[in-house]
Amino acid sequence: MDGTFNENDISRVVEADRANVWHHLTQHQPFFTGADPKIIVEGKGLRVWDQKGIEHIDAVSGGVWTVNVGYGRETMGDAVRDAIVKMNFFGGTVGSIPGALFAEKLISKMPGMSRVYYANSGSEANEKAFKMVRQIAHARYGGKKHKILYRDRDYHGTTIACLSAGGQDERNAQYGPFTPGFIRVPHCLEYRKHEQDGAPEENYGEWAANQIEEIILREGPDTVGALCLEPVTAGGGVIEAPEGYWPRVAEICKKYDILLHIDEVVCGVGRTGEWFGYQHYGIQPDMVSMAKGVASGYAAISCLVTTEEVFDLFKEDTSDHLSYFRDISTFGGCTAGPAAAIENMRIIEDENLLQNTVDMGHYMVDQLKALQDKHEIIGDVRGKGLFVGAELVADRGTREPAAEAMVQAVVKDCMSQAVIIGATNRSLPGKNNTLCFSPALIATKDDIDQIVGAVDGALGRVFG
Ligand SMILES: Cc1ncc(COP(=O)(O)O)c(C=O)c1O
Repeated sequence: MDGTFNENDISRVVEADRANVWHHLTQHQPFFTGADPKIIVEGKGLRVWDQKGIEHIDAVSGGVWTVNVGYGRETMGDAVRDAIVKMNFFGGTVGSIPGALFAEKLISKMPGMSRVYYANSGSEANEKAFKMVRQIAHARYGGKKHKILYRDRDYHGTTIACLSAGGQDERNAQYGPFTPGFIRVPHCLEYRKHEQDGAPEENYGEWAANQIEEIILREGPDTVGALCLEPVTAGGGVIEAPEGYWPRVAEICKKYDILLHIDEVVCGVGRTGEWFGYQHYGIQPDMVSMAKGVASGYAAISCLVTTEEVFDLFKEDTSDHLSYFRDISTFGGCTAGPAAAIENMRIIEDENLLQNTVDMGHYMVDQLKALQDKHEIIGDVRGKGLFVGAELVADRGTREPAAEAMVQAVVKDCMSQAVIIGATNRSLPGKNNTLCFSPALIATKDDIDQIVGAVDGALGRVFG
């Protein structure tokens, strides 16, 4: 390696990657026994090109439901460039022009919310919320009301505290011991209610919410500070809560004075066809975290948004030198994130992408449901907007999950057709059996036909 780079010789990059990069979520051994790491070189719209020049359609918005407005947006690049050339960074104790303007725009989309706290990643935004809950507990309740409830199958990030709030046992395996004070509540996946003791045929949503109340009563309501939930569970299997769930959840939180923290890291900024997932359900959260779609991956940004009531708790007592939120995120002071986020929101509005998400989401669900008639292996199709899952089962009667290796073989087969789809993986022991789709919000019917056509072929080849 002499440090020079010949653009026509991408093999130089592949070798540098193989020698020096540690990829996320990846077993590297195959890269030393014949396989090359994949390098994504360029993107435009829904398409990306790899090091061999092969064009792929990306049905998962950058692998992890992020690039909501699609690749190669010059105005996003312009917005970031203009912001950073003028003023790239100053620590978040002071304000910035993009930071103030994006906060104002964001709050205009979130009635009832009022304050934006900037950070870098979804995990970090969730950590901010956890810290606020703990600090409120100390300031007002002698430290007692500090417990944070999280739900089976939900994911809130990769740090130890976020994994402590993680409902995916396989993802958590080998990373304990975890932070105390995080308490699990049951999932609300109706398709798997037969695995939950006492789940009724009717009113499952209300029943699932009532399970949360039982846990609050078991723990003692005076010990529980917050409930943290994904509006639609993402990596845990694309789970939309059934009817009756959310109103009951909101009622329970109010009854026991428990803060409702909604993790919109995946759903936020358009993915489900509303600006935020929770807005489908008429509920009013106290805290909302968001990251991926906020700037569609053009810059790193996450936000924790709170109500004015929560904010007020941190400025009540000026005589107490500990009474404000004593937290910082160095790169929460970067202007690239909010500058990109302003442009990202403008694109979604000007191109009417929320409506497109609703329309194309319905189309995608319909197309996948049509595949169900053809492939016995598809047990359930579900989703909200352009956030869709297809759960594969070895037996439709018993709903026995399809083997993870077979599900991964479907993903691999699609990749060999240059179609990038996702699947739940290494998350839930024995239940990593849901194919995941989250194309950019600009997707067209033709794009969806191409994606679903590839899945059709793959299912035929893998399962016969
Ligand atoms: C629902 C949810 N919350 C939080 C996170 C963590 O976000 P990050 O990877 O940006 O830390 C993720 C990541 O996938 C997520 O899906």
